[in-house]
Amino acid sequence: MSEWLKAYRENHADFDHPSGIETLGSDPFIAFSNWFDQAAAAQEKEANAFVLSTASPDLRISSRILYLKELHGKSFIFYTNYLSHKGQDISRQEKVSMLFFWPGLMRQIRIEGRVQPIDAAISDAYFASRPRESQIGAWASAQSAVLPSRQELIAQFEYYDQQFPELVPRPPHWGGYALQPDYFEFWQGQPSRLHDRKSFLLQDDVWQINLLNP
Ligand SMILES: Cc1cc2nc3c(=O)[nH]c(=O)nc-3n(C[C@H](O)[C@H](O)[C@H](O)COP(=O)(O)O)c2cc1C
Repeated sequence: MSEWLKAYRENHADFDHPSGIETLGSDPFIAFSNWFDQAAAAQEKEANAFVLSTASPDLRISSRILYLKELHGKSFIFYTNYLSHKGQDISRQEKVSMLFFWPGLMRQIRIEGRVQPIDAAISDAYFASRPRESQIGAWASAQSAVLPSRQELIAQFEYYDQQFPELVPRPPHWGGYALQPDYFEFWQGQPSRLHDRKSFLLQDDVWQINLLNP
Protein backbone atom coordinates (compact mmCIF):
# COMPACT_ATOMS: atom_id res chain seq x y z
CA MET A 1 0.00 0.00 0.00
CA SER A 2 2.69 2.54 0.95
CA GLU A 3 4.29 2.70 -2.54
CA TRP A 4 0.90 3.19 -4.11
CA LEU A 5 -0.04 5.80 -1.52
CA LYS A 6 3.11 7.85 -2.06
CA ALA A 7 2.33 8.09 -5.76
CA TYR A 8 -1.39 8.72 -5.27
CA ARG A 9 -2.40 12.12 -6.60
CA GLU A 10 -5.82 13.34 -7.69
CA ASN A 11 -5.85 15.20 -10.95
CA HIS A 12 -7.01 18.67 -10.00
CA ALA A 13 -6.71 20.04 -13.50
CA ASP A 14 -10.26 19.45 -14.60
CA PHE A 15 -12.47 20.04 -11.58
CA ASP A 16 -15.15 22.56 -12.19
CA HIS A 17 -15.41 25.37 -9.67
CA PRO A 18 -17.92 28.12 -10.29
CA SER A 19 -15.83 30.97 -8.87
CA GLY A 20 -12.75 31.70 -6.82
CA ILE A 21 -12.42 33.36 -3.44
CA GLU A 22 -12.49 36.84 -4.99
CA THR A 23 -16.29 36.59 -5.11
CA LEU A 24 -16.71 35.78 -1.39
CA GLY A 25 -17.57 39.32 -0.28
CA SER A 26 -17.22 40.65 3.26
CA ASP A 27 -19.87 38.63 5.14
CA PRO A 28 -18.64 35.11 5.96
CA PHE A 29 -22.16 33.83 6.67
CA ILE A 30 -23.35 34.84 3.19
CA ALA A 31 -20.13 33.41 1.74
CA PHE A 32 -20.76 30.11 3.54
CA SER A 33 -24.37 30.00 2.31
CA ASN A 34 -23.28 30.65 -1.26
CA TRP A 35 -20.62 27.93 -1.21
CA PHE A 36 -23.01 25.53 0.49
CA ASP A 37 -25.67 26.16 -2.20
CA GLN A 38 -23.03 25.62 -4.88
CA ALA A 39 -21.93 22.35 -3.25
CA ALA A 40 -25.54 21.15 -3.17
CA ALA A 41 -26.11 22.25 -6.78
CA ALA A 42 -22.93 20.40 -7.81
CA GLN A 43 -24.41 17.31 -6.12
CA GLU A 44 -21.56 16.91 -3.70
CA LYS A 45 -22.32 13.77 -1.68
CA GLU A 46 -23.29 14.48 1.93
CA ALA A 47 -22.75 18.22 1.36
CA ASN A 48 -23.99 18.99 4.90
CA ALA A 49 -21.53 16.59 6.58
CA PHE A 50 -18.71 18.23 8.52
CA VAL A 51 -15.94 17.19 10.90
CA LEU A 52 -16.45 18.44 14.44
CA SER A 53 -13.33 18.55 16.62
CA THR A 54 -13.59 18.94 20.37
CA ALA A 55 -11.07 19.03 23.20
CA SER A 56 -11.17 17.30 26.56
CA PRO A 57 -9.95 19.13 29.69
CA ASP A 58 -6.53 17.43 29.31
CA LEU A 59 -6.43 18.64 25.68
CA ARG A 60 -7.08 15.32 24.03
CA ILE A 61 -8.58 16.34 20.68
CA SER A 62 -11.19 14.15 19.00
CA SER A 63 -12.99 14.46 15.68
CA ARG A 64 -16.09 12.94 14.12
CA ILE A 65 -18.48 13.61 11.27
CA LEU A 66 -21.90 15.18 11.94
CA TYR A 67 -24.65 16.70 9.85
CA LEU A 68 -25.28 20.43 9.77
CA LYS A 69 -29.06 20.82 10.07
CA GLU A 70 -29.47 24.59 9.89
CA LEU A 71 -27.70 27.91 9.57
CA HIS A 72 -29.95 29.99 11.80
CA GLY A 73 -28.94 33.67 11.81
CA LYS A 74 -25.31 33.51 12.91
CA SER A 75 -25.48 29.99 14.39
CA PHE A 76 -24.64 26.64 12.87
CA ILE A 77 -27.04 24.04 14.31
CA PHE A 78 -26.34 20.32 14.71
CA TYR A 79 -27.92 17.56 16.79
CA THR A 80 -26.45 14.83 18.92
CA ASN A 81 -26.43 13.11 22.31
CA TYR A 82 -25.48 15.53 25.10
CA LEU A 83 -23.92 12.70 27.15
CA SER A 84 -21.76 11.38 24.30
CA HIS A 85 -17.99 11.79 24.13
CA LYS A 86 -18.38 15.06 22.20
CA GLY A 87 -21.19 16.21 24.51
CA GLN A 88 -18.99 15.72 27.56
CA ASP A 89 -16.11 17.56 25.88
CA ILE A 90 -18.39 20.47 24.98
CA SER A 91 -19.85 20.71 28.49
CA ARG A 92 -16.35 21.48 29.80
CA GLN A 93 -14.79 23.23 26.80
CA GLU A 94 -17.14 25.09 24.50
CA LYS A 95 -14.52 26.03 21.89
CA VAL A 96 -14.72 23.68 18.89
CA SER A 97 -13.90 23.56 15.19
CA MET A 98 -16.03 22.56 12.23
CA LEU A 99 -14.65 21.49 8.86
CA PHE A 100 -16.47 21.08 5.56
CA PHE A 101 -14.80 19.45 2.53
CA TRP A 102 -16.35 19.42 -0.93
CA PRO A 103 -13.89 17.49 -3.12
CA GLY A 104 -15.82 17.92 -6.38
CA LEU A 105 -15.35 21.69 -6.09
CA MET A 106 -11.94 21.43 -4.40
CA ARG A 107 -13.18 23.53 -1.51
CA GLN A 108 -12.72 23.44 2.23
CA ILE A 109 -14.25 25.70 4.89
CA ARG A 110 -12.86 25.85 8.42
CA ILE A 111 -15.00 27.36 11.14
CA GLU A 112 -14.07 27.92 14.78
CA GLY A 113 -16.19 29.21 17.63
CA ARG A 114 -18.14 28.39 20.76
CA VAL A 115 -21.07 26.00 21.09
CA GLN A 116 -24.06 26.14 23.41
CA PRO A 117 -27.09 23.86 23.66
CA ILE A 118 -30.07 25.34 21.83
CA ASP A 119 -33.52 26.02 23.33
CA ALA A 120 -35.37 22.82 24.28
CA ALA A 121 -38.38 23.88 22.20
CA ILE A 122 -36.27 24.00 19.01
CA SER A 123 -34.79 20.57 19.75
CA ASP A 124 -38.33 19.26 20.43
CA ALA A 125 -39.57 20.51 17.07
CA TYR A 126 -36.64 18.98 15.17
CA PHE A 127 -36.87 15.68 17.08
CA ALA A 128 -40.58 15.45 16.23
CA SER A 129 -39.71 15.75 12.51
CA ARG A 130 -37.32 12.75 12.56
CA PRO A 131 -38.30 9.25 11.40
CA ARG A 132 -39.62 7.01 14.20
CA GLU A 133 -36.58 4.65 13.97
CA SER A 134 -34.23 7.57 14.60
CA GLN A 135 -36.36 8.74 17.52
CA ILE A 136 -36.36 5.30 19.15
CA GLY A 137 -32.64 4.98 18.39
CA ALA A 138 -31.96 8.18 20.34
CA TRP A 139 -33.49 6.53 23.42
CA ALA A 140 -31.91 3.13 22.85
CA SER A 141 -28.32 4.23 22.24
CA ALA A 142 -26.19 5.49 25.14
CA GLN A 143 -23.97 7.07 22.51
CA SER A 144 -20.23 6.54 23.07
CA ALA A 145 -20.68 4.23 26.10
CA VAL A 146 -19.25 0.71 25.86
CA LEU A 147 -21.79 -1.72 24.37
CA PRO A 148 -21.51 -5.26 25.77
CA SER A 149 -23.13 -6.79 22.67
CA ARG A 150 -25.19 -5.79 19.66
CA GLN A 151 -28.10 -7.86 21.03
CA GLU A 152 -28.21 -5.47 23.97
CA LEU A 153 -28.71 -2.51 21.64
CA ILE A 154 -31.46 -4.33 19.76
CA ALA A 155 -33.14 -5.22 23.07
CA GLN A 156 -33.00 -1.56 24.12
CA PHE A 157 -34.51 -0.54 20.80
CA GLU A 158 -37.37 -3.03 21.21
CA TYR A 159 -37.92 -1.91 24.80
CA TYR A 160 -38.34 1.76 23.85
CA ASP A 161 -40.37 0.84 20.78
CA GLN A 162 -42.90 -0.73 23.17
CA GLN A 163 -42.59 2.06 25.74
CA PHE A 164 -43.65 4.62 23.16
CA PRO A 165 -46.25 2.97 20.92
CA GLU A 166 -47.38 6.31 19.52
CA LEU A 167 -45.55 9.64 19.79
CA VAL A 168 -41.94 9.43 20.91
CA PRO A 169 -40.89 12.26 23.26
CA ARG A 170 -37.42 13.77 22.90
CA PRO A 171 -34.95 12.20 25.34
CA PRO A 172 -33.59 14.89 27.69
CA HIS A 173 -30.04 13.82 26.78
CA TRP A 174 -30.53 14.43 23.04
CA GLY A 175 -30.76 17.81 21.32
CA GLY A 176 -29.14 20.56 19.35
CA TYR A 177 -26.08 22.71 19.70
CA ALA A 178 -25.49 26.12 18.13
CA LEU A 179 -21.99 27.06 17.08
CA GLN A 180 -21.32 30.80 16.94
CA PRO A 181 -18.23 31.36 14.83
CA ASP A 182 -15.45 33.81 15.48
CA TYR A 183 -13.27 32.48 12.65
CA PHE A 184 -13.85 31.26 9.09
CA GLU A 185 -11.38 30.19 6.46
CA PHE A 186 -12.34 29.50 2.87
CA TRP A 187 -9.95 27.40 0.77
CA GLN A 188 -10.27 27.06 -2.96
CA GLY A 189 -8.02 24.59 -4.73
CA GLN A 190 -6.43 25.79 -7.95
CA PRO A 191 -5.08 23.59 -10.74
CA SER A 192 -1.78 25.49 -10.46
CA ARG A 193 -1.52 24.29 -6.82
CA LEU A 194 -1.22 27.95 -5.81
CA HIS A 195 -4.41 27.53 -3.88
CA ASP A 196 -6.53 30.41 -2.57
CA ARG A 197 -7.20 30.99 1.13
CA LYS A 198 -9.23 33.76 2.72
CA SER A 199 -9.82 34.14 6.46
CA PHE A 200 -12.37 36.10 8.48
CA LEU A 201 -11.49 36.75 12.15
CA LEU A 202 -14.04 38.44 14.41
CA GLN A 203 -12.38 41.19 16.46
CA ASP A 204 -14.45 43.75 18.39
CA ASP A 205 -17.53 42.80 16.38
CA VAL A 206 -15.75 43.44 13.07
CA TRP A 207 -14.66 40.73 10.64
CA GLN A 208 -10.96 41.17 9.82
CA ILE A 209 -10.36 39.72 6.37
CA ASN A 210 -7.03 38.37 5.15
CA LEU A 211 -5.62 36.31 2.35
CA LEU A 212 -3.35 33.50 3.54
CA ASN A 213 -0.46 31.71 1.92
CA PRO A 214 -1.53 28.30 0.71
C1 LIG B 1 -22.09 10.96 7.40
C2 LIG B 1 -22.24 10.88 8.92
C3 LIG B 1 -23.14 11.72 9.57
C4 LIG B 1 -23.29 11.66 10.95
N1 LIG B 1 -24.16 12.54 11.55
C5 LIG B 1 -24.29 12.51 12.90
C6 LIG B 1 -25.11 13.49 13.55
O1 LIG B 1 -25.71 14.39 12.93
N2 LIG B 1 -25.22 13.41 14.91
C7 LIG B 1 -24.54 12.46 15.65
O2 LIG B 1 -24.69 12.44 16.88
N3 LIG B 1 -23.72 11.56 15.05
C8 LIG B 1 -23.57 11.55 13.69
N4 LIG B 1 -22.72 10.67 13.08
C9 LIG B 1 -21.95 9.72 13.94
C10 LIG B 1 -20.72 10.45 14.53
O3 LIG B 1 -19.69 10.55 13.55
C11 LIG B 1 -20.16 9.79 15.80
O4 LIG B 1 -19.84 8.43 15.54
C12 LIG B 1 -21.12 9.84 16.98
O5 LIG B 1 -21.76 11.12 17.06
C13 LIG B 1 -20.39 9.55 18.29
O6 LIG B 1 -19.35 10.48 18.45
P1 LIG B 1 -18.61 10.72 19.87
O7 LIG B 1 -18.45 9.36 20.50
O8 LIG B 1 -17.30 11.36 19.53
O9 LIG B 1 -19.51 11.63 20.68
C14 LIG B 1 -22.53 10.72 11.72
C15 LIG B 1 -21.60 9.90 11.05
C16 LIG B 1 -21.46 9.99 9.68
C17 LIG B 1 -20.41 9.12 9.00
